[in-house]
Amino acid sequence: MKTQTISFYDAHPGAANLLQEVLDGLNASPRAIPAKFFYDERGSELFDRICDLPEYYQTRTELAILQRALPDLVRLIGEECLLVELGSGASKKVRMLLEELRPSGYVGVDISREFLLASAEALARDYPWLQVHAACVDFSAGLRIPQCDDNVHIVAFFPGSSIGNFDAPDAVRLMRDVGELVGPGGHLLIGVDLKKPVGLLNAAYNDSAGVTAAFNRNLLYRIRTELDSDVDPQAFEHYAFYNPSLARIEMHLVSNLAQVVHVADQAFAFAPGEGIHTENSYKYTVDGFGDLAARAGFRQQAVWCDEHKLFSVQLLQNQPAAGQPES
Ligand code: AVI
Repeated sequence: MKTQTISFYDAHPGAANLLQEVLDGLNASPRAIPAKFFYDERGSELFDRICDLPEYYQTRTELAILQRALPDLVRLIGEECLLVELGSGASKKVRMLLEELRPSGYVGVDISREFLLASAEALARDYPWLQVHAACVDFSAGLRIPQCDDNVHIVAFFPGSSIGNFDAPDAVRLMRDVGELVGPGGHLLIGVDLKKPVGLLNAAYNDSAGVTAAFNRNLLYRIRTELDSDVDPQAFEHYAFYNPSLARIEMHLVSNLAQVVHVADQAFAFAPGEGIHTENSYKYTVDGFGDLAARAGFRQQAVWCDEHKLFSVQLLQNQPAAGQPES
């Protein structure tokens, strides 16, 4: 059987961007480096392993919700859409959508170039009837994707509650960009993690096998290998906890001794216990997320949850006139 060729758009931000954002983050107070830098090839593989961990309820719960929602999704979305997956990673969840929705085209969008291409190639091999496109884009900095033809019904698929890694203003900005991409009447199918007992949340980000700790430290391995740096990843501990007042998991890398870390020509002193904030993962109620989506011009057309209300999958429709201006 003939495999389609993949069209590839490469707007990878490059190493200069990593250097600048790392220096900015280490010079800031408190120190913070954006979570998007977790995702080089190794980071994407580690995240894939996180998705299979017993403590990380999100992936299997979202898959089960999607499975049950498929007949409704086919009815609400209809045929011949262009499916654009944001943060496509290993593109596992999208397979069930492709098989049931039978879109005319698929665009995988991810910041991790090698991982993105490998996933797109696998999809093109497994679904020879599908036009497969790949776009290596940092979508936190804008969403211009040339393969998105605005004559078709575009459905953006943003699974895994990756929206939770953005604070509210950035989440609204990103969803507005998605609104422009899908156009009036277009859809955003999004996975949103829900508020739940703190014990479950803390366990999900402190797994017993230490994969989340390795994922967190991978940021320091990247800095050491890709930038001119002497940082020792083992000199930092993984620290993750639920912050109830901000409704978010916070991940940090905490120095386990007094040390000086060099990056490029700059030196950064760490006291024992001093950390770098590496990720937030916000948790929502269904209504709370509906309010956030409304600020970006989307209305909740349908929402599906699991029986324990751990996670939600939401079909949002772009109605730009309903969006309120950002204050
Ligand atoms: C990708 N993102 C939604 C994950 C999350 O749960 O915030 C990343 C992750 N961080 C630690 N474990 C998983």
